[in-house]
Amino acid sequence: MTVRTVAVLGAGIMGRGIAYASALGGFTTLLQDTSGEALEKAMSEISATLERGVVTGKVPDDAAADAHRRLSGVRRLEEATREADLVIEAVPEDIDLKVDIFSTVDRHAGPQAILASNTSSLSITEMAAATQRPKQVVGMHFFNPVHRMKLLEVVRALETSDDTIATALMVGEKMGKEGVVVRESPGFVTSRINALIGNEAFYMLQEGVANARDIDRALKLGLNHPMGPFELVDLVGLDTRLAILRFLHRTLGEKFRPCPLIEQYVAAGRLGRKTGCGVYEYPENDRNQAGALDRAARAGGLP
Ligand SMILES: NC(=O)c1ccc[n+]([C@@H]2O[C@H](COP(=O)([O-])OP(=O)(O)OC[C@H]3O[C@@H](n4cnc5c(N)ncnc54)[C@H](O)[C@@H]3O)[C@@H](O)[C@H]2O)c1
Repeated sequence: MTVRTVAVLGAGIMGRGIAYASALGGFTTLLQDTSGEALEKAMSEISATLERGVVTGKVPDDAAADAHRRLSGVRRLEEATREADLVIEAVPEDIDLKVDIFSTVDRHAGPQAILASNTSSLSITEMAAATQRPKQVVGMHFFNPVHRMKLLEVVRALETSDDTIATALMVGEKMGKEGVVVRESPGFVTSRINALIGNEAFYMLQEGVANARDIDRALKLGLNHPMGPFELVDLVGLDTRLAILRFLHRTLGEKFRPCPLIEQYVAAGRLGRKTGCGVYEYPENDRNQAGALDRAARAGGLP
């Protein structure tokens, strides 16, 4: 199937990154969010990331200008999805919300359109069941920050067709990603491993095994992880990580029981960079996720 227009639903940490990769990959891209503030922030962050790409020589001048032209922000879901060949949902990790959105998108998008979810862990089959086109529903799991991370996990749900998988891989490739196809299973490959490491780090912090900085340093220097588990969870969002852990605990069992300390941080509103405070604190000028990652990479902290 030919994909020309991509709609991205949710303009948070991931939606804005996916919209960036989509516009730069040559697709007409509509980024949608119910929050005007989120949309505004997303559009200015995408511009800043494109500008940094030009300044550092990673994005040619004309490619950045073309990407700008291909991208627009909209508030209404109907407007975003009407003309889309591919819809990528990136709203919060909540199955009821996602099912509701899939059922609405199914009514508004054209019959050929493919519907994808960027969920980190939830069931694509459950989202597909809310539509009349389960063969055209697939998981497209991008990684944070999207403009740097190469992997795209393409998730095959119970009824996903081979054509849909092939289209998801082709779109990913145009966005500069390498695809790995996985069968639907809670947390797929990456979130399942990552949630376990991140949760264990919170247990160690709670038990006083070491302080957060030293746990991060130990994993970076000793295990060659590009980021420490607390630096990473502050980037991902503690609320998102907790939602994943709760789901994995329910579906895969006891080893994923969320550490009480992460529950407590989320209850306190310490959600990570996006709120200015997570495991660490961030001054106002250091909350831009994409910018923070680029600075870390320049300082040699990331691959
Ligand atoms: N944060 C990560 O590192 C990461 C990595 C991979 C996948 N994911 C997955 O991506 C999805 C989004 O996560 P995020 O971190 O970008 O979340 P986020 O909280 O940063 O952003 C979510 C956005 O969705 C918007 N939204 C809420 N309800 C909406 C609706 N009904 N319609 C349109 N927009 C709506 C919110 O206003 C917000 O801007 C989740 O499923 C998450 O598990 C996250």
